[in-house]
Amino acid sequence: MRLVKSRQELGRIGLVVLLSIGASVQAARWPNPHIDELESNLYDRRGYNARTLPIGMAPNCDRFLFGPNTGRSNAADWIRAAYHDMATYNIADRSGGLDASIRFESEQTRPENVGDAFKNTLTFITPLVHRHFSLADGLALAMVTAVEICGGPKIPFRGGRVDALKPNSPGVPEPQQTVEEHIASFARQGFSKKEMIGLVACGHSIGGVQHEAFPDVVPPSDDPQNTSGNSKFDSTGTLFDNRIATEYLDGTTTNPLVVGHNSTMNSDLRIFSSDRNVTMRNLANPAAFRSTCSELLARMIDTVPRGVVLTDIIHPIKFKPVGVHLVWVGGGKIALKGEVRVWNSEPSKVVLNWKARDGRHASGNSATLLHDLTHISYPVIPDTPSDLVNRWFSFPETLLNANHGISNFWFDVTNAEGSKKVENLGGAGYNLQDVIMISNTTCLSFTNGTHLDVEFAVRETIKPTRVYTKIDISDDTGRPIIHTIDITPPSDSTAVAGYILWHVTLTQFDHFTLVVDTDLRTFETTFFSANSPFGYSSPMCP
Ligand code: HEM
Ligand SMILES: *[C@@H]1O[C@H](CO)[C@@H](O)[C@H](O)[C@H]1NC(C)=O
Ligand SMILES: *[C@@H]1O[C@H](CO)[C@@H](O)[C@H](O)[C@H]1NC(C)=O
Ligand SMILES: *[C@@H]1O[C@H](CO)[C@@H](O)[C@H](O)[C@H]1NC(C)=O
Ligand SMILES: *[C@@H]1O[C@H](CO)[C@@H](O)[C@H](O)[C@H]1NC(C)=O
Ligand SMILES: *[C@@H]1O[C@H](CO)[C@@H](O)[C@H](O)[C@H]1NC(C)=O
Repeated sequence: MRLVKSRQELGRIGLVVLLSIGASVQAARWPNPHIDELESNLYDRRGYNARTLPIGMAPNCDRFLFGPNTGRSNAADWIRAAYHDMATYNIADRSGGLDASIRFESEQTRPENVGDAFKNTLTFITPLVHRHFSLADGLALAMVTAVEICGGPKIPFRGGRVDALKPNSPGVPEPQQTVEEHIASFARQGFSKKEMIGLVACGHSIGGVQHEAFPDVVPPSDDPQNTSGNSKFDSTGTLFDNRIATEYLDGTTTNPLVVGHNSTMNSDLRIFSSDRNVTMRNLANPAAFRSTCSELLARMIDTVPRGVVLTDIIHPIKFKPVGVHLVWVGGGKIALKGEVRVWNSEPSKVVLNWKARDGRHASGNSATLLHDLTHISYPVIPDTPSDLVNRWFSFPETLLNANHGISNFWFDVTNAEGSKKVENLGGAGYNLQDVIMISNTTCLSFTNGTHLDVEFAVRETIKPTRVYTKIDISDDTGRPIIHTIDITPPSDSTAVAGYILWHVTLTQFDHFTLVVDTDLRTFETTFFSANSPFGYSSPMCP
């Protein structure tokens, strides 16, 4: 028996302790708009507040928004788009990879990117982009959402991809190339021959080949429901399963890249048989197929250019205050607004508490019951994993005395069995600044062009050195960048309950925050975003 652990083991224990401290520090950061947005896109899939990507495939993974029902699907286009964007990677200098360079016209029009899948995908995903959500993350997330919702395995997702500023070098494999060329191409992308076979089988589990894009592979069709002549890779074209492998092995495959009439174009046959079918026989086992695809597809989307640092794997946040913000409502009152998402549990009661600015427990009205808004969890497809159930609670009308303000809030949660728990980020509570906030007199005007007449309140005593708004605009490559507009102080600086009202007119207001700098620090409102269900919606001006 060994009593003393080796130095190496002790070192490992030390590392584990450090890592877990790091994890809890990260968990305690709230809000984290970047992680919160990615997490929402990943896990708000159904019912109330469901995000755009999962809805874009509903109900049965066969939704196609860019033409008649041709047998094509958005889901298939998204998987192919993620691969084609990534396939430019060069492991030698770590250039290329998943960086949304496919958005550049000169990359999209290359012969290796034939077809309209990329344009369709970008039309869908580009409107989702803002300062906390890159197009490259959107492409990766669309692939993950498609695979998971269409019956495939869970794929660990990390965020933080950065959109390229220019096209990458060519390098997407094409069906007329030899298997030696394919092996070399995948090696350049960072994948071995065995991994190449796996990745192609995983990718070609969904979708098919169209006559329009590949007239040498698929014959034309005169079926009005099948105008692009889409010929499926396997008998379950919209389902992510291992029939791509089983049908290949049992000789029933209709995969046009295996049994197509033009053998030059039968690249899947050459790839699948390149190791005497050893890998394909392994993939005929459903569990092996799922774990292989999970690992390889995660590596595919995590293949990013040198210098890009990805986040940790994003897990569902079990208890998540969402869209929490303060609104100046006049008369010396501030409304505390927001929602709470509870993941995979059904508490019977959630009580909101808060502390005033001076840290004292706000007297009288510190506890309020939240309403159970909804727990809709209808399935997008019947066999979607059951762990995608969430439940939403809305904040009730909660008015704070502006003289007292707020510094921090937390929740008392009663579970269905009656046990109680405090949700306060491990003791810290959820900090909320009450220095700058939007006013409910903000309104949308259509006179003299469309603009948002933003009114907002700034605390008088903080002595601003600069007050400004940050709005998201695109640079000339389509990347979101932040444009700041300085705001001139109001002529009427009479304070009400310690706050002065400011005003700014915005002609671009899809995504913005209001910011105030002081000598000591910066305060910023929540991110108001038009394409988030948690964004700010304004009434029309009187
Ligand atoms: C040697 C490598 C590969 C070749 C030669 C190849 C070739 C093709 C071709 C010719 C099509 C038909 C496209 C169309 O008609 O619009 C296609 C579709 C597709 N590919 Fe690949 N592919 C390869 C690797 C991959 C990989 C690694 C993935 C993903 C992991 C992937 C995902 C897809 C998907 C999802 C479709 C269906 C698109 C749709 O139905 O609209 N492919 N591929
Ligand atoms: C659509 O047309 C292609 C090309 O002719 C054909 O291979 C495929 O089976 C057709 N799909 C359906 C659902 O009829
Ligand atoms: C087969 O495909 C190749 C590559 O696209 C093309 O050059 C050739 O003409 C095709 N052959 C036939 C018989 O269609
Ligand atoms: C691999 O499988 C295919 C499809 O069943 C078959 O045509 C081919 O002969 C097999 N190759 C080897 C080396 O077993
Ligand atoms: C702002 O909110 C307060 C409190 O709910 C309300 O009395 C007032 O009418 C609102 N003002 C506008 C312009 O909506
Ligand atoms: C109309 O809008 C323009 C630019 O947004 C501005 O320069 C101009 O002063 C506005 N006119 C009126 C009457 O508000």
